[in-house]
Amino acid sequence: MASHNSIKSVTARANVNIALLKYWGKKDETLKIPHQSSISLTLDDLYTVSTLSLFPNACRDELWINGEEASESDRNKLSEYFDLVRKIYHINGFIHVDSHNHVPTGAGLASSASSYASIALALNELFNMGLDKIGLSRLARLGSGSASRSIFGGFTVWHHGDNHDSSFAEALDTNWDDLAFIVVILSKDKKKISSREAMKKSLSTSEYLHFVKRSEELYPLFLDAIKDKSIERLGPLVEESSNLLHQTIRSSGIDYYLRETYELLDFLKQIKADFPLFYTIDAGPNVKLLTSKQYLKDILNRLSSYHTLVSYIGKDAYVQTKNTW
Ligand code: PMV
Repeated sequence: MASHNSIKSVTARANVNIALLKYWGKKDETLKIPHQSSISLTLDDLYTVSTLSLFPNACRDELWINGEEASESDRNKLSEYFDLVRKIYHINGFIHVDSHNHVPTGAGLASSASSYASIALALNELFNMGLDKIGLSRLARLGSGSASRSIFGGFTVWHHGDNHDSSFAEALDTNWDDLAFIVVILSKDKKKISSREAMKKSLSTSEYLHFVKRSEELYPLFLDAIKDKSIERLGPLVEESSNLLHQTIRSSGIDYYLRETYELLDFLKQIKADFPLFYTIDAGPNVKLLTSKQYLKDILNRLSSYHTLVSYIGKDAYVQTKNTW
């Protein structure tokens, strides 16, 4: 049993995920409830490990990222998340977070999803909240929408819902594991406009209504293509959702693509004629390519002048260690 002065700490690990059917825009900013459902694939070997500790004399939340004390604004953002969690789940105590991102910096793979998913897992243990995986997904969503999906491995669907209870992700039951992602890194610069800000701007455009409507139409088609393990059907849907996202973002005057992004998309046309290869792009200029493992070597040869990294399908987030002194 822990004494009153004990330090309790929990370490948890979660992988990043890449949205195949994109989420964009919230109907509730605080609870991060989206307007439409989304579908993603969790990647392996690209993850965050977070250690959460309770120090008895702490007077505020603390955040360390990759061994360095985080900026005041990052710390405040995390503290706002903890304030919301303390309020909704009726827990008390300041929390010390030590996060390590095993995601190459600037690779365009949002580590916020893996970060908040790992933090949610550790919170659940630290405060004995007794949440199941769906509950963990709700808890992670409060930090970053896409984090709701990083609780699960493989294909994951995030049901948009209407409130905190009904908006959660869950795993899709499939054993389709011969897929691979090639991430083409075109720029390592930090994005100038956060997805949070860009989403807000998109909401006021007329394109946004089309984005939601078309995403809803695409949803059952995605589920069918995944059920049938058809990359020939899934790939074009993935590209359509990505294009739809970027048309919507552009209509608000923002363009995440760089000249290099347009050039790569053009160059890909040649490779796409020879292999099943499909692109998707998030809130940044880098390009993620979906293909089958069997074509990886040949495709990587054709992309040899680019900086690439390869990732396969990853597993559920998990608690690594628990310590009580
Ligand atoms: O949850 P956020 O704020 O990281 O936003 C994610 C937005 C996209 O990556 C562009 C799409 C998605 O569904 O992950």
